[in-house]
Amino acid sequence: MIYAEILAGGKGTRMGNTAMPKQFLMLGGKPIFVHTVEQFLMNTRIDEIIICTPEVWIAHTRDTLKKYIKDLSRIQIVAGGATRNDTIMNGIKFIEETYGLNDDDVILTHDAVRPFLTQRIIDDNIEGAIKHGATDTVVEAFDTIVHSVDGKIITDIPVRSEMFQGQTPQSFNIKLLKEFFENLTDDEKEILTDACKALVIKGHDVHLVRGESYNMKITTQYDLKVANGLVEGQKI
Ligand code: CTP
Repeated sequence: MIYAEILAGGKGTRMGNTAMPKQFLMLGGKPIFVHTVEQFLMNTRIDEIIICTPEVWIAHTRDTLKKYIKDLSRIQIVAGGATRNDTIMNGIKFIEETYGLNDDDVILTHDAVRPFLTQRIIDDNIEGAIKHGATDTVVEAFDTIVHSVDGKIITDIPVRSEMFQGQTPQSFNIKLLKEFFENLTDDEKEILTDACKALVIKGHDVHLVRGESYNMKITTQYDLKVANGLVEGQKI
């Protein structure tokens, strides 16, 4: 089975004071996360779409989906977790309990607040996860990346051509990801801010899929303005 897991379990604090978490805010006439779900629904290779959302927003998520999407048969709603990785694992636990886990099952984990992903990105993630077991979607770094440990003095300036910016989907063979998460020490869990890192720090190859600069994450009010501009087809 090929699963898509839409990560909509965050609070969106960097968006400032909003009536609801950013994934539920409107973008061009429908909530941000609905745009995202529609992209996965459009892809016929995706068997099930698991939307992980804060527990208190589950009813709202269900009502919103009913309003905007006709066929909900491939969609499930699950409670997210305290951290992004907890949310990912809650979705996987749901999959295991509901459908069972097969050796070749893969999951595309995607930020609900990246509504502009394309079918090409989804297809490349499916192929990559099936072939390699783990993929990360990235774009080349356009700006020079400056590394500073204390935020005051430059520690290093890495070679730009070797630098990429991480996007999502991040896609995995489910059994492989679960095994790596379960074998992490508490210290490793502390530093683990990214699902792919669980594999990288244990020496497992994670293959790159080419993203797009417009596959942006909506984090701040400024991003929401840019996203509205993209929806309206305006020049940014
Ligand atoms: N996310 C999640 N579960 C969490 C935290 C984050 O599913 N416990 C999701 C968010 O809903 C979002 C995606 O992960 O779609 C990317 O995270 P980010 O942009 O950092 O979202 P928030 O944590 O909501 O934002 P902030 O850090 O500003 O509070």
